[in-house]
Amino acid sequence: MIIDTHAHYDEDRFAEDLPEILAGFPAAGVQWAVNVGASWQGCLDSVRLAHEYDCLYAAVGLHPDDIADLTEDHIAWMREAANDPKVVAIGEIGLDYHWMVRPKEEQAAGFIRQMDLARELKLPINVHCRDAAEDLLTLVTEHGQGLGGIIHCFAGGVDHAKKYVSMGYHLGIGGVVTFKNGRRLKEVVAAMPLSALVLETDSPYLAPEPHRGTRNDSRNLPLVAAAIAEIKGISVEEVVEATYQNALTAYPKLSIG
Ligand code: NI
Repeated sequence: MIIDTHAHYDEDRFAEDLPEILAGFPAAGVQWAVNVGASWQGCLDSVRLAHEYDCLYAAVGLHPDDIADLTEDHIAWMREAANDPKVVAIGEIGLDYHWMVRPKEEQAAGFIRQMDLARELKLPINVHCRDAAEDLLTLVTEHGQGLGGIIHCFAGGVDHAKKYVSMGYHLGIGGVVTFKNGRRLKEVVAAMPLSALVLETDSPYLAPEPHRGTRNDSRNLPLVAAAIAEIKGISVEEVVEATYQNALTAYPKLSIG
């Protein structure tokens, strides 16, 4: 079975037909998806959806774009949410220098604050990074050693991949691995052991080929598993089995069920 380690089913684009999509999980070989909060509302919605649907779990955290909302009230709420059996990680948290909605210093402070919180709560993290590879590596090296979790939509090179894996992280691999211009990610997948990889969609974004540009959902993950299998010259079943176990390692609370 497949675990989607990063999805956003709280987004408006799923408002009409989410129950039908989730009902289709078993036929696609998908067992669970982790709905990842980004905004404050997204955190609330992630927890709500995880309670509404057996096949969904939740991560709670503030994305760098929304970091201005990281108040002590929100920290207190996340502390409480961590006791919820369906909340499996702190995320998505990190740095985004592409949109640069908030200044770098504020993004860094919020990221560090949430890594410290994850350590206190003994939860893994789900990490977002866009156009900030060097600073992200520095902050994770200084504050995130051994927390565990996933570098989501991994977009770095093999050198950074090895560093994250040596610090206890898994690499989130999604639709980009099927793209013609996904050469860099293909190199990472080829170079890294299967034990380092987990599957993710980032739904509704980043649909794999041949659905690129359409609304993504977890049922497309067999296409990502197939692309990894082809790169590594192994069977799709082997990729599915290994990435399933890896997802349980990255998010230990999932194994409790
Ligand atoms: Ni995301």
